[in-house]
Amino acid sequence: MYRGPMPALQARDLHKRYGDGESAVDAVRGISLELAAGEFVAVVGPSGCGKSTLLQLCGGMDRPTAGTVAVDGVDLAGLDDEALTALRRDRVGFVFQFFNLLPTLTLAENIALPLLLAGVPRGAGLARAEEGARRVGLAHRLEHYPARVSGGELQRAAVARALVHRPALVIADEPTGNLDSDNGGRVLSLLLELNRETGVAVLLATHDQALAAAADRVLRLRDGAEAGRPAVGVRVGAVTET
Ligand SMILES: Nc1ncnc2c1ncn2[C@@H]1O[C@H](COP(=O)(O)OP(=O)(O)O)[C@@H](O)[C@H]1O
Ligand SMILES: [Mg+2]
Repeated sequence: MYRGPMPALQARDLHKRYGDGESAVDAVRGISLELAAGEFVAVVGPSGCGKSTLLQLCGGMDRPTAGTVAVDGVDLAGLDDEALTALRRDRVGFVFQFFNLLPTLTLAENIALPLLLAGVPRGAGLARAEEGARRVGLAHRLEHYPARVSGGELQRAAVARALVHRPALVIADEPTGNLDSDNGGRVLSLLLELNRETGVAVLLATHDQALAAAADRVLRLRDGAEAGRPAVGVRVGAVTET
């Protein structure tokens, strides 16, 4: 039976425990989540509820204590660190609250970086970066360094960088959290437009209700679990603690 394209993300019963013993923190406790290709899902909840941890697990930046993650059909548990890095580079795009552009590279070079790291020749990479920059309204800023442009422009460059290698999944962790409402609105509009145009799936963490309202679906977190569902015991290996 034809099931349509591969889900961009399948996370099953994810758990993440930081530390151990008395100081252990169970940041994520039994979250399951699936994003079809092209879906836009918002993760909301108060500070400390586990949004960033969940996004890091889903983007392959960290490994879960228990549970499974598949990105674009690839089970991350089966990958060693090198293969995980390659999968992140090739199939995932990231947008962070504090932009994370490299200060010694121009905006064009920053946007091209995922391509250059993947071995695309510099000229071809910069040409695609220019196309991406134009798409986010930054064609006039290609040769500028990050220190010389505004926060809104930095984040639009970060959005272009996240999309330049045509990933299956974009992970955006409070992408408007450091912007005023005009610039935040512009970044959200861009993410939504690019999601609709390119079919990239977007998983976005926010505590901004307006942002969440724009999503196809909202996952509400409280204390590491889906709000409104009973918190489940923390499974570490075969042992269940509650
Ligand atoms: N690297 C870490 N080491 C220990 N505890 C952490 C770490 N990262 C996050 N935490 C804890 O995990 C919980 C969830 O944090 P986080 O995922 O950052 O939530 P949010 O993004 O919703 O604010 C918090 O209690 C936080 O203090
Ligand atoms: Mg966070």
